[in-house]
Amino acid sequence: MAGGFTSRLSLTKSVGYCNGVDISQMVNAERQRRLPKAGSIEIAPSILSADFARLADEIAAIELADVKIVHLDVMDGHFVPNITIGPPVIAKIRKYSNLVFDSHLMISEPAKYAEHFVEAGADHVTFHVETANEPRRIIDRLHELGATAGICLNPDTPVDSIKDVAPLCDMVLVMTVHPGFGGQKFILDAAKKIIQVREIVGPDIRIEVDGGIDPQTTPIVVSYGADTLVAGNAIFSKPDRVGAINAIRQAYKEGHNIKRRGTRS
Ligand code: DX5
Ligand code: ZN
Repeated sequence: MAGGFTSRLSLTKSVGYCNGVDISQMVNAERQRRLPKAGSIEIAPSILSADFARLADEIAAIELADVKIVHLDVMDGHFVPNITIGPPVIAKIRKYSNLVFDSHLMISEPAKYAEHFVEAGADHVTFHVETANEPRRIIDRLHELGATAGICLNPDTPVDSIKDVAPLCDMVLVMTVHPGFGGQKFILDAAKKIIQVREIVGPDIRIEVDGGIDPQTTPIVVSYGADTLVAGNAIFSKPDRVGAINAIRQAYKEGHNIKRRGTRS
């Protein structure tokens, strides 16, 4: 699914059938942004640590560093002990950015809400395996809508829980902190699961890692096989956002002599 097309989506109607026309086809036809194909290392700044009163400016600041993806943390105060943003905010910021919107749903009922995020302008939707009774149905629905799909597992959740559905996804998200807050300490044992996930999905599906990623932890997760690096605090706590992103880039370039497990590059 990943890689490919362009164009701007501005859809405000409910997704479904309208006058006999499947609106999901319209979503497909009008969409332009796409998760980059596996094979490159991408940094996905997480706006969780950004100034929420100036979100459009904060996203513009990271665009100056030529990132392709922005990571949007969605929390419901139920699955995780914090509350952030939902589709209305995503729809508003969609007007100000053409970055790939990578929405990370830390919510209890992803089956009920996932398509609302696509409708609002999310290009990629990740949900937690801990919250989904029928993960395959959510993945299929996201694909029908023209979005890419991701499954996520918490630090204490075994890799076995995603082994059947991970190959159906475009990206697997491995949490290296307990979800809910930015600025937490990186959990090395959780990061080690990246190695197992890479064995399951092969080289063509992205593995994203989220939590405590900074220039020190970057070479570790890249060596395990991660290729999509979420970083919140390491970027938005620094006055120079571009410099902070480049410091992470420098860290994986310097660590590049470390063999990257299971990837093509
Ligand atoms: C945590 C979120 C993360 C968070 C990471 O629950 O899913 O995306 O922003 O923040 P840092 O990079 O500060 O650990
Ligand atoms: Zn996240």
